Amino acid sequence: MEIAGKGSIVVGGASGMGRATAELLRARGASVAILDLQHSAGSEVATGLGGSFHPCDITDETNVEQALNAAVAALGGAVHIAVNTAGGGIARRTLTKQGPHPLDEFRRVIEFNLVATFNLNRLQASAMSRNDPVDDERGVIVNTASIAAFEGQIGQVAYAAAKAGIAGMMLTMARDLGGLGIRTVAIAPSLFSTGLTAGIPPEMAEQLTRDAAFPKRMGRPDEYARLVVAIAENPMLNGGTIRLDGGQRFAPK
Ligand SMILES: NC(=O)c1ccc[n+]([C@@H]2O[C@H](COP(=O)([O-])OP(=O)(O)OC[C@H]3O[C@@H](n4cnc5c(N)ncnc54)[C@H](O)[C@@H]3O)[C@@H](O)[C@H]2O)c1
Repeated sequence: MEIAGKGSIVVGGASGMGRATAELLRARGASVAILDLQHSAGSEVATGLGGSFHPCDITDETNVEQALNAAVAALGGAVHIAVNTAGGGIARRTLTKQGPHPLDEFRRVIEFNLVATFNLNRLQASAMSRNDPVDDERGVIVNTASIAAFEGQIGQVAYAAAKAGIAGMMLTMARDLGGLGIRTVAIAPSLFSTGLTAGIPPEMAEQLTRDAAFPKRMGRPDEYARLVVAIAENPMLNGGTIRLDGGQRFAPK
């Protein structure tokens, strides 16, 4: 898909990898709508990109539907590229001396990452289905997993399950939507320097990335954005989860 002239929605676009993606998509000529929390920097980021901001909490079904509808309208009625980065985890083991992992916390992480991503995807696909196809293609959806989907560390059981769920949806969703010319791909980053992790001191970052092949450092938000652009531009990328990790494999801790 050619990016110039297309409408794009970046959920989580106020910060980190989402923000870098919104900036790069704009630089490549797409119009950008940002969905993020009300108190985020979404409004100023969107203004800086000549785009629109639609406050929403991705765990609120009604809120998401309204914000997506408003975003599509602000894009002139058509979204071709949707990127979803909002998500996150907690640190809790399956069992500790204090007792088993609280079930409500497990559910909350699944809701925040997996259910919210699916909710965004089904509504984004619905909006894309109304596009006129270009080279048989109507749209592309990019989700954010994590390498924890494949080798979650100690204390990441809920997060690993949620991100593995995102990875697990990709092929089936691509098959569901293939007839409409809509692609779905997930990116699985290793440790990236973003709003969540930018405060990690250099010595700790060195320790956390020591088993990467190359480069042995945290990823940079623009490296995520460049993969989104590559996915958007290459129609053969579909149904999978692409590791973006410098060859890193998480150790147990
Ligand atoms: N940074 C890493 O090391 C890393 C590694 C692997 C995967 N990830 C994944 O990347 C995504 C986070 O992106 P980031 O690292 O750029 O973080 P970030 O904190 O810089 O950006 C996340 C954005 O999501 C928004 N957000 C959070 N909760 C939200 C909600 N309920 N509704 C709407 N928006 C919400 C935040 O306001 C923020 O703008 C998550 O899905 C995370 O699991 C991050």
